[in-house]
Amino acid sequence: MDRQEMRILLLEGIHENAAALFKQYGFEQVESVTQALEGEDLQAALARADVVGIRSRTQLSQAVLAQVKHLQAIGCFCIGTNQVAVDKAQALGIPVFNAPYSNTRSVAELVLAEIICLLRGLTDKNHKVHTGTWPKTALGAYEARGKVLGIVGYGNIGTQLSVLAEGLGMRVIYHDVLPKLPLGNAEPARDLDDLLSRADVVSLHVPQLSSTYNMIAQAQLQKMKQGALLINAARGHCVDIEALDKALREKHLGGCALDVFPDEPKRNDEALECSLRGLDNVILTPHIGGSTVEAQANIGIEVADKLVRFLQNGTTTGAVNFPEITMTKQQDTHRILHVHHNQPGVLSAVNTLFAQHAINITAQSLITQENIGYLITDVAVSDSDVALAQIERVEGTIRVRRLY
Ligand code: NAI
Repeated sequence: MDRQEMRILLLEGIHENAAALFKQYGFEQVESVTQALEGEDLQAALARADVVGIRSRTQLSQAVLAQVKHLQAIGCFCIGTNQVAVDKAQALGIPVFNAPYSNTRSVAELVLAEIICLLRGLTDKNHKVHTGTWPKTALGAYEARGKVLGIVGYGNIGTQLSVLAEGLGMRVIYHDVLPKLPLGNAEPARDLDDLLSRADVVSLHVPQLSSTYNMIAQAQLQKMKQGALLINAARGHCVDIEALDKALREKHLGGCALDVFPDEPKRNDEALECSLRGLDNVILTPHIGGSTVEAQANIGIEVADKLVRFLQNGTTTGAVNFPEITMTKQQDTHRILHVHHNQPGVLSAVNTLFAQHAINITAQSLITQENIGYLITDVAVSDSDVALAQIERVEGTIRVRRLY
């Protein structure tokens, strides 16, 4: 398919940088929709799309993907890919791309702001002045300097926060399930319990895994220092809210800031159901850790760039559900992308058929994962029609695409 014919559907108000980048590379048919779609509206929109870009609200479930016809790639213009049935997409030969780094800094900055707000009681004092009192006091207000920040999950966001917090004069300790290089003066804690017992502020930056489900529950909260602060801008399921509520009301914890919740409202005019609403030492934000103008602009470029590389060259580097191949395209060749079930004999079957038809392969690369294999083959332009017809016959084939 010619790139002028390729239909790109961008949902949920994806930053205009993305559409601009597609057009820069000759993909003219870009349709931008401001809201998330569901049900029949989503299905109808997907039926006319070759590529779809979504953020976190559009649900590309197994059932939805089972009905797509032409879809070649999915771009999640956000960090998480939980809203997509990535295994189903893989089984259909559709790579899913996301933007794991574009909003790292935004989350780290929000956490830093929350640390200072909680240590100084800013949200409560602000509210009181607005509503007509003057709570001028140093009681319960602290500097961040010298306090121990315990970072749980020392990945992209955790390390970025580590550097910024040290700039404020905090002492950083961290816990990760993998050995991680400490940045600056940060030090690894012995384990989670050690971190919890030493930190003045605990901040979570772990992914959504079964092992992180309720990783901070009653037992862990009890191990935290009296008056310590908890920040969760990772995923809502990491903290047992009932236990946190108890720890706050019993004044064991000094406060908390939550940006993520086990059940988050689906629409902006919906209220959050959470027992912590109304507590003055609790900051509740609507999952906006990564929501800055800069992050959205970066995400627009990062994901659109990955999609363009895939559409142009078959490059799957950065895909979350696909073998990752980057291969420079040879001059005067056509490229054939072949997604197949990971079973023995596929490569030899392809090359045997090509040899039988005297097809000259100019470059080739194959990587397999547990369930699928991804094969890229460049052939002379004159051989390309025959090569395409032959490769489609190979047993185990899921999907074939030719790039000019
Ligand atoms: P990352 O993958 O770079 O880092 C996660 C780290 O957690 C890794 O080093 C991993 O080894 C570690 N980890 C995994 N399981 C652990 C466990 N049980 N205990 C301790 N460490 C564990 O991810 P990144 O980019 O730093 O993001 C972290 C999380 O932040 C994301 O998974 C996402 O859930 C959340 N996030 C929230 C946003 C928001 O708007 N509030 C925006 C962006 C990300």
